[in-house]
Amino acid sequence: MNEMKDRLMVALDVEHAEQAMALKQKLAGAVGWFKIGLRLFVAEGPELVRSVRQSHKVFLDLKFHDIPNTVAQAVESAGRLGVEMVNVHAGGGEAMLRAAADAAAAFPEMRLIAVTVLTSDPMPKAQAAELALERARMAREAGLAGVVCSVWEAAAIKQACGDNFITVTPGIRWSDQDTQDQKRIADPAEAVRRGADYLVVGRPVIRAADPAAAAREALDMMAAARP
Ligand code: C5P
Repeated sequence: MNEMKDRLMVALDVEHAEQAMALKQKLAGAVGWFKIGLRLFVAEGPELVRSVRQSHKVFLDLKFHDIPNTVAQAVESAGRLGVEMVNVHAGGGEAMLRAAADAAAAFPEMRLIAVTVLTSDPMPKAQAAELALERARMAREAGLAGVVCSVWEAAAIKQACGDNFITVTPGIRWSDQDTQDQKRIADPAEAVRRGADYLVVGRPVIRAADPAAAAREALDMMAAARP
C-alpha cells in the first residue's frame, strides 16, 4: 500500500493556506504527494509550498508557457523552492522545452514534466490522443522526464517514449462521482492497469465528507489493479 501512496497525488485545489493545511493534516498518513496548482499558489505563494514540503512531496502544477528564457528561469525558481515535480505546457514548443530541461538539470531531485493536452479539452478523442503522443515524443526528445496525460493515452505514450518516461494522469473518478469538467475520465484501477505512474485526484478526495477515507478507497483500487 505504501508504494501506492507514493503514486497518489492529491490536488490541493482550495483557496487558502488554512484549508490546504487542514487537508494536509487529514490526509497526512494516506497520501505521499500534494499537487499545488494556480489558485493556491497565486493566493499563498512559495511559503505555502515550503509548509507542505515539510511532510510531503510537492508537484508544483503551474504549467509554465512563455518564451524559453522566462520558462527556464521559472523552472530554476521551482528547483530552488525544492519541489519534487514541476511542469510546463508542451504547447510552448521545442525550444521552450529544451530551455526548461536545461534549467531543471541543475536540480536532480526535481522531475520536469509537460502537459500535453488538457483533459477538459473539447477536441475529438482521436485528435487529442494523436496530439498528446506527438507532444510526449517532443518532450522526451527535449530531455523532460514525463508528461501529464489522460489515462487513455498512457499506454501509447509509454510505448512510444519508453517505460521510464513518467505518466501523470488526472481525470480520475470512481463509483458514481460527478465527472464535473473532466471529459476523459477513468477510475484508479483502470489508471494503474493502463500504465499511469502517478494519479492526480482533486475533487473526489478534497470534497469528500471524509477525505482520508476517499483517498484510501482510491489506494485500495490501485493496489487491487497492480499487475
Ligand atoms: O478535481 P479533479 O480531480 O478534476 O482535479 C484534477 C486536477 O488535475 C486539477 O488540479 C487540474 O487542474 C489538474 N489537471 C487536469 N488536466 C490536466 C492537467 C492538470 O485536470 N491535463
